[in-house]
Amino acid sequence: MASNRNLLVLPGDGIGPEVMNEVRKVIAWMGKKRAIGFDIKEDLVGGAALDKHNTPITDDTTKIALEADAVLFGSVGGPKWDTADFSKKPERGLLRLRKEMDLFANLRPAKVFDALVDASSLKPEIVKGLDIMIIRELTSGVYFGEPRGRHTNAKGEVEAFDTQRYTVPEIRRVCAVAFELARKRKNKVLSTEKANVMYTGVLWREEATKLHKESYSDVQLSHMYADALAMQLLRAPKEFDVIVTDNLFGDILSDEASMLTGSLGLLPSASLGAPDATGRRKALYEPIHGSAPDIAGKGLANPIAQTLSYAMMLRYSFDLGKDADMVELAVENVLKAGYRTGDLLVGNTAGTKKVGTQEMGDAIVKELDRLA
Ligand code: NAD
Ligand code: IPM
Ligand code: MN
Repeated sequence: MASNRNLLVLPGDGIGPEVMNEVRKVIAWMGKKRAIGFDIKEDLVGGAALDKHNTPITDDTTKIALEADAVLFGSVGGPKWDTADFSKKPERGLLRLRKEMDLFANLRPAKVFDALVDASSLKPEIVKGLDIMIIRELTSGVYFGEPRGRHTNAKGEVEAFDTQRYTVPEIRRVCAVAFELARKRKNKVLSTEKANVMYTGVLWREEATKLHKESYSDVQLSHMYADALAMQLLRAPKEFDVIVTDNLFGDILSDEASMLTGSLGLLPSASLGAPDATGRRKALYEPIHGSAPDIAGKGLANPIAQTLSYAMMLRYSFDLGKDADMVELAVENVLKAGYRTGDLLVGNTAGTKKVGTQEMGDAIVKELDRLA
């Protein structure tokens, strides 16, 4: 359906194309039943682009991404490209997009569906009702800091080095996103770093504190070292609301948080840039999981994280909150009805029905039909 919404779809590698196929069904349903259409372009990224174009993302694709209203991204990487030159690894395609689109705020919600309390690695009473939002800084820190590389040092030893680096504006802009979001939630922000051992941690804590005092003193702010938070997330995750942190800690803590919800295959994310003069912000939506080489091509992948990433896109890029709610409710109901991909079949599985990727996608669309 023609529309003025420009969407770039980049399925990528491994299970990326498999889970994206299921989202296509939801996109088609939304177009037909709710007149939510997109002008869709589709392209290669990651290993798929490397195989065809000898680069993990072409300049052309990057340009289309920069011009799109939103990018829906699958996942990249896999053992096939383990020996690729570091500068051409599939993951570099995603990192280039994050950097060039200046997607500094990565929203990674972790919510526990009631139907899945038994799928969590933690006791039901610890996770029931959990709803936290991790905001990960996405365009700086050790992922991009210079200098980085490897060489032979003066002693003749090979050494490798990365640089953790943050500027004050980089810290402030992502903390501002956290405070703003907290105001629409439980009004609590936890900022996490390692100010006890890292200069960047000290600066991070200072700036979070200053910004809070200047503009957000109505929000409750606390600080914790990232190692302690890794522990507290397993001890009492419901104590948290919004968590804001740097690029690397955010990567690790969000994978940890996924297991509170039951599976890495459930967690979506939104990567947002700063709003321009018209309020439009560049955006990319992707599950937090990777290409899952161990199950790729077998029809086993859980399409829910990708589906919920599409719902986040409706909400954050197109102001279609009601439609996003509907997709989320359809997912919730399908889980309530007992549909489970293999990753969710842990703990008490009484009353569940094992399904593959496509059956899960079909069940979600069928539930949308029922809800409409
Ligand atoms: P992974 O997230 O791909 O997989 C970790 C584990 O979780 C695997 O056992 C996998 O089977 C399982 N899993 C992940 N998603 C699932 C889903 N939707 N349904 C069911 N099970 C799921 O992490 P990894 O194995 O460390 O990395 C594999 C490749 O993916 C690497 O090349 C890595 O760099 C890349 N990666 C890419 C992204 C991305 O594109 N955004 C994110 C993370 C990792
Ligand atoms: C993620 C991934 C990426 C990251 C990789 C694939 C570059 O793990 O999105 O969580 O480390 O940021
Ligand atoms: Mn990750």
